[in-house]
Amino acid sequence: MTLAINMSLLRSEEENEEQSTKHKAQSAKRETIMATENFIRNALLLPNDVIAYHVGKELAELYPNKTIVAGYNWSFDLDAFVRAEKCAVVADKSVFHQVRTNWEGAGKRERQQIENSWLNVLWGGQLFDVLLISWTEGCRTIRHHWVIADDLQMANGFVAAVCEWSCEVRDEIVVFQDGYFQKNTELYNSIKTATFDNLILRDSLKDDIQNDFEHFFNSREMYDRYQIPWKRGAIFIGPPGNGKTHTIKALINQLDKPCIYVRSFKPTDDEQENMAEVFKRARMTTPCLIVLEDLDSMIDEKNRSFFLNELDGFETNTGIVVLATTNHPEKLDTAILDRPSRFDRKYTFDLPGDRERGAYINNWNHQLQEELRVSEEGTTEVVRQTEAFSFAYMKELFVASLVQWVSSGGKQKMDDVILAQVKQLREQSKMK
Ligand SMILES: Nc1ncnc2c1ncn2[C@@H]1O[C@H](COP(=O)(O)OP(=O)(O)O)[C@@H](O)[C@H]1O
Ligand SMILES: [Mg+2]
Repeated sequence: MTLAINMSLLRSEEENEEQSTKHKAQSAKRETIMATENFIRNALLLPNDVIAYHVGKELAELYPNKTIVAGYNWSFDLDAFVRAEKCAVVADKSVFHQVRTNWEGAGKRERQQIENSWLNVLWGGQLFDVLLISWTEGCRTIRHHWVIADDLQMANGFVAAVCEWSCEVRDEIVVFQDGYFQKNTELYNSIKTATFDNLILRDSLKDDIQNDFEHFFNSREMYDRYQIPWKRGAIFIGPPGNGKTHTIKALINQLDKPCIYVRSFKPTDDEQENMAEVFKRARMTTPCLIVLEDLDSMIDEKNRSFFLNELDGFETNTGIVVLATTNHPEKLDTAILDRPSRFDRKYTFDLPGDRERGAYINNWNHQLQEELRVSEEGTTEVVRQTEAFSFAYMKELFVASLVQWVSSGGKQKMDDVILAQVKQLREQSKMK
C-alpha cells in the first residue's frame, strides 16, 4: 500500500517535473514568439542606418547560444536556391511572411520574391533560421539576411552555397539594368538563335571577329607563358543598323561563355558603384564576357576615370573580354578609344556597299518562295537605288514589301512592289 502510494507520489513528482519543463519550454517559446512577432515591423520603423545594428543586437540577445551571420548581397538569392530545391524552407508562423509577386508577361509564370520573412530552413540535414528584411537605401531596395545557426561553419557554408548557386550561369544571361543584376532567359533565347550565317560583313570582318575571340579563349597558356595579361577589349563602331548588336549576340552564342550584358549603369546615382559591381561580378565569373551596348551613352565626364580604372586599373581582369558598341565614337574620349590596353581592337561596321546590298537581297531571295523573289534585273536596280541604306533599313524594305505584296492580293510583280517601297522609304527618311 505504502509502496503504491510512494510510487504514485514518485510518478506525480516525475510528472510535475516533466510538466514544469514543458511549461518552461512553452513559455520560452511564447517569449520568442512575442519577441519575433513584431520583430520585422519594429526594425523597419527605425532609421535606415540603425536597422541592421538593431536587428543584429536583438538577435544576439534572443539567441545567446547561436551563431548569427549577417549580410546583404545580390548573390544571396535564397528564392532561386529554394526553387531549385537545394534547400527546403517553411515560413515561421509567428511572423508575417511578405512576398512580392512580379508579373512576367502574358502566359508566363509569375515570379515570387520574398521581401520580409523569418524562415525555418532545412539544408544539408541541418535546421536553422534565416531572417530576411528589405529596406530602401538610396534608390534601391536591398534585402539583408541573418542566418541563425548552431555553428559558424554551417552558417557560412550555407551563405556560400546560396551565393555560389546564384552566381553560376545556367542557360541564362545576366543583365545589369536599373542597378540590378537579373537573369534574362528571353535575351538568352534570342542570343541562342543568333548566328553569323545570315550576317553580311565586308571583306574578312566576319572571320576576323570570330577568330579573334575564339583564339583568345583558347590561348590562356600562351598569354601566361609570355606574361601578357589574359584580357581583351574590343569596340564595334558604326552607324545604327549594320550588325553590331547582331554580331555581339552571335559571338555570345558561339563562344558559349558566361556573359554579363550591361544595359545601363544608370539610372541610380551610384553609377560608379554599379560599374564596380559589374566588374566585381565578372571577376568572380571568369572566363567571361562583359557587353556594354552603346558605350557612349554610359560614359560621361563624371564617371570616365572610374570606368577606365575598372577597365585597366589596379584590379586584374584576367579572363575577361569586354565587348562594347557605339554609334557615336566622336562622343567617346580618346582615352577610351585610342589606348590599346583598354579596347585592343576597333571593328568598324560601315553602311553596306553595292556588293553587300546585293548579297543581302540574294539571301532574302534564297529564303522566299518563287513568286516573292526579286528578279536579277530587279536586284541590280534595287542595289542602285538603295545607296546609303543600312542593313536594318534593307530589312525594313523587304518586310514592308512583303506586307504590301500580300495585301494587294499577290497580283503585283515583286520587282515593282519593292522599287515603289524604296521610293517611299527614301521619301520618308528624307534621303535623296
Ligand atoms: N551586316 C548585316 N547583315 C545582315 N543583316 C544585318 C546586318 N546588320 C544588321 N542586320 C539586320 O538589322 C538588324 C538590326 O541590326 P543591329 O545588329 O541591331 O544593328 P546595330 O547594333 O549596328 O545598330 C539585325 O537584327 C539584322 O536583321
Ligand atoms: Mg545595336
